[in-house]
Amino acid sequence: VTVYLVGAGPGDPTLITAKGLDLIRSCDVLVYDVLVSPELVDEAPTDALRVSRENVDQAVINALLVDLGQRGLEIVRLKGGDPFIFGRGGEEALALAAADVPFEVVPGVSALSAVPASAGIPITHRGVSAQVTLVSGHSAKGDELDYAHLAKTPGTLVVFMGVMHLPQIAARLIEHGKDSSTPAAVISRGTHSDSESVSGALHEIGQLAADLSSPALLVVGDVVAVGTQLAPALLAAGTISAR
Ligand SMILES: C[S@@+](CC[C@H](N)C(=O)[O-])C[C@H]1O[C@@H](n2cnc3c(N)ncnc32)[C@H](O)[C@@H]1O
Repeated sequence: VTVYLVGAGPGDPTLITAKGLDLIRSCDVLVYDVLVSPELVDEAPTDALRVSRENVDQAVINALLVDLGQRGLEIVRLKGGDPFIFGRGGEEALALAAADVPFEVVPGVSALSAVPASAGIPITHRGVSAQVTLVSGHSAKGDELDYAHLAKTPGTLVVFMGVMHLPQIAARLIEHGKDSSTPAAVISRGTHSDSESVSGALHEIGQLAADLSSPALLVVGDVVAVGTQLAPALLAAGTISAR
């Protein structure tokens, strides 16, 4: 194997896998995303080439991985969370496969469950939610999302990349029949020491979370109420902080 598509975990650098960390420590080249913590970048050997993905087109990154891989170097492509969850890891794997460059996917701890968990919210909970839907809230208009379907889907809804458009996302869900009092939470910089989270009814979540910074995750569903129940215990243990 020459190219490893490695998940860095959700933020806290200690949440990378043991395998991922070993690979970083022995790589020749580290190509990393913006959300990856600097502590992990520092784990690469001092003579390793470090390439930031910031402001570089996906096509250029694909070509770079293929080129470096064909030279037989050991490359770690380090991505936030898990490489195959809204991480474009699939696109890079397809490019490597098409060029016959050997690669391996090293899964990571995704923000999907880790970020809500860090705020005390279990994304599934017996008797409350047995189904999770994950979507990208990237587009302001949300044209790519089927809100009519989402509003009627039971269980937990997790929205990635939606922080810029929270009021519109909530309004569209309500417009399509989601109960406006459904519990919702936004967790910003989950698993980092400066993480912040807010929770409230769906109709007010956009306003409540207005000053939270990116990256942030929106969770909608009754599991948020489980988090609210757990909050006093987590506050007492110091694992979450009051906002
Ligand atoms: C491009 S996606 C990458 C997701 C990643 N591959 C994963 O599995 O977690 C980036 C989005 O993930 C969410 N995210 C990632 N890390 C986060 C964190 N520490 N706290 C809150 N949300 C986070 C945010 O919605 C952010 O906009």
